[in-house]
Amino acid sequence: MDKPRTDAKICGMGHSMKRKEDPRFIRGKGNYVDDIKLPGMLYMDIVRSPYAHARIKKIDTSAALKIPGVLAVIDGPTLEKYKLHWMPTISADTQMVLPIDEVMYQAQEVCAVIATERYLAADGADAVEVEYEPLPVMIDPLKSIAPGAPVLRKDKKGKSDNIAFHWEAGDRDKTEKALAASEVVAEQYVYVPRIHVASMETCGCVADFNTAEGKLTVYMTTQAPHAVRTVFALVAGHVGLSEERIRIVSPDIGGGFGGKVPVYPGYVIAVAASVVIGKPVKWIEDRMENLQADSFARDYHMKVRLGASKDGRMTALSIKTIADHGYTNASANPMKYPAGLFSICTGSYDLKNAFCEVDAVYTHKPPGGVAYRCSFRVTEAVHAIERVTDVLAQKLGMDPAELRMKNFIAPERFPYKSVLGWEYDSGNYPAALNKAMDIVGYEDLRKEQKEKRARGELMGIGICSFTEIVGAGPSKDFDILGIKMFDSAEIRVHPTGKAIARFGTKSQGQGHETTYAQIVAEELGIPASDIQVEEGDTDTAPYGLGTYASRSTPTSGAAASLAARKIRSKAKAIAAHLLECSEADLDWEPGKFFIKGVPDKAKTIQECAFAAYTNMPQGMEPGLEATHYYDPPNLTFPFGSYICVVDIDRGTGEVKVRRFVAVDDCGNIINPMIVDGQIHGGLAQGVGPALYEEISYDEDGNISGGSFLDYYVPTALECPKWETDKTITPSPHHPFGAKGVGESATVGAPPAIANAVVDALSHLGVTHVDIPVTPEKVWALLRKAGAAE
Ligand code: CDP
Repeated sequence: MDKPRTDAKICGMGHSMKRKEDPRFIRGKGNYVDDIKLPGMLYMDIVRSPYAHARIKKIDTSAALKIPGVLAVIDGPTLEKYKLHWMPTISADTQMVLPIDEVMYQAQEVCAVIATERYLAADGADAVEVEYEPLPVMIDPLKSIAPGAPVLRKDKKGKSDNIAFHWEAGDRDKTEKALAASEVVAEQYVYVPRIHVASMETCGCVADFNTAEGKLTVYMTTQAPHAVRTVFALVAGHVGLSEERIRIVSPDIGGGFGGKVPVYPGYVIAVAASVVIGKPVKWIEDRMENLQADSFARDYHMKVRLGASKDGRMTALSIKTIADHGYTNASANPMKYPAGLFSICTGSYDLKNAFCEVDAVYTHKPPGGVAYRCSFRVTEAVHAIERVTDVLAQKLGMDPAELRMKNFIAPERFPYKSVLGWEYDSGNYPAALNKAMDIVGYEDLRKEQKEKRARGELMGIGICSFTEIVGAGPSKDFDILGIKMFDSAEIRVHPTGKAIARFGTKSQGQGHETTYAQIVAEELGIPASDIQVEEGDTDTAPYGLGTYASRSTPTSGAAASLAARKIRSKAKAIAAHLLECSEADLDWEPGKFFIKGVPDKAKTIQECAFAAYTNMPQGMEPGLEATHYYDPPNLTFPFGSYICVVDIDRGTGEVKVRRFVAVDDCGNIINPMIVDGQIHGGLAQGVGPALYEEISYDEDGNISGGSFLDYYVPTALECPKWETDKTITPSPHHPFGAKGVGESATVGAPPAIANAVVDALSHLGVTHVDIPVTPEKVWALLRKAGAAE
């Protein structure tokens, strides 16, 4: 779709409509969980473990309970009475809500204090005295996986090792044979470190149990309200919380990025406190709790091997991974894919042989495995293939762009069945890379690099040509804890021709109130400004699986389109009735039905809406509304080519991103400005992990980088002026040809930056550097090569 089909008044797809939600956000009038204040509301604060592994000998609450305003301390044995001290994770593992006798990671919840004021709750938490007996700590996943390692999850009967799961895809033997027969094999150990999902708003909730009605309302920071309601009902049904008596409301959310998919113990404790006390209880994490205790992302140790012929034709790929999941597997992956969609690791290349395997390991760290702005491990997969492609190029002495061009899946091969089982819906990889090379001026940059090298200056050019996989379902393969992955839309057109549309997804800043309205406007010709969009309230929205992994456009977006088409079809019958003609005589243009060849004999969609309530044909059901549950036939496969130019300071090892060209393809675009915004934000969240962000632990399990003083999140100052462009290759199976886009840039940026750094240092014999590429790491490489100033 090159040009919008609708005019600026209707503002359907393709218009850069300003975001409908922004007037309230820029006026500070958003309604976040912490803005919710209910009469008689109490506050909760959590006591957390300073140890990564310890026995709890005693919890002394006497001093805390003496503080005026502190009402109660809830600990593991309190919850045990109600059988609520353990809960399932979204990956069907188990997790303590509060411990009875042992803590398993630093910052784990030990007990919770309830008070009349937030600061009194904090004072109370400070006053609780916990006596611990420190126990041996297992931090290194490579030691944890070794035979004979002490078993961490003693709560699991019969468990004799620390493996959370083993998962594999592809043909191991065939791949090994193909690697052995390859003329060249590039081999690289690649570590994608543990990072933190630094959303602006931390997690929290207000749990409000109405004792008179027996109804629980939880306002909470969740990306998946319906799934949470079902899980609450399944887990707490035995204490009387059945699903129709639970209402989950996700109000405005200040960034989720996957970190607001899991159910954290704090939510459950606040609910239990409200049910027991009979008053609303608010719990809001502080920044350090958010950073130290909530689910982490990544932490993949990958041994990658890529075989090729001497002239650069890729032959086989093998990736062996050890994944550190911390104390429990709390990732939100679809059940059939415990390692997420990691098997997209063959990327944009036509590989005939591939095998990948993942061993997930328990350690004494906070639970991990969250897909931080990523479709279930795609970031790790893309990093592996795009990094090793450059290692191969270097080994072959070939230009990395030329190597990619040589191995891309050819445009005419789509739909393309990958050797690891995915059916890529559409793509044109050479077009995207060519466009990026043109914009950046690739040949000139290579000349500039040569001249700079001759003068001893360090400049690098890095490419990443990624393929994404987003939009889970289809439901035949995708479910979370048995709940199938589809999504929904419900549209009601009011008599005056305005509408309300509700969805099973939940925006956390992506602009759904605008883009969903544009989809409905596109289909019905009702101006987008006349369409109110609502998400996140389980009492009113149709059932859906929520927003993460760039699934909203491919699923609920599609549902919006199909629900609107049902409405249009009914409106057509009404128009025929009003115009006293047959439906076959009618043509449609956005906003009106008219008699073929007579554009003046028309009825607008607004007139049809009015008639649906005032003058419908005899026998027709009154009203104008429709619901659609969309089960996608396949995933969508957005892609892009990114080129990054870096300069490196030989004195400090500092890497400066001088230019960054991002050419993205997400099929047909709903709102170009919002898509650009998604790319800009995603690129910044790619610069962070590439250059600065890492959560690591000492051998006693103490976190380093436990606050924003040490954990460095980039600002606009560290980001270049992004140069973005698009190619458009519609998805053939999506109702309006769109693919998701929300996370493309987070996935594609880190390898482009890492490749640029290695490219800058390749003449010094450097073949790889793990992210984050800190000045310290680069300076050590420069020193080793005798090139530091
Ligand atoms: O699930 P999530 O909203 O995070 O990801 P998405 O479906 O990729 O959408 C992110 C934002 O970009 C939404 O506001 C979409 O409507 C918008 N978008 C778009 O305008 N055109 C596309 N082809 C894809 C997404």
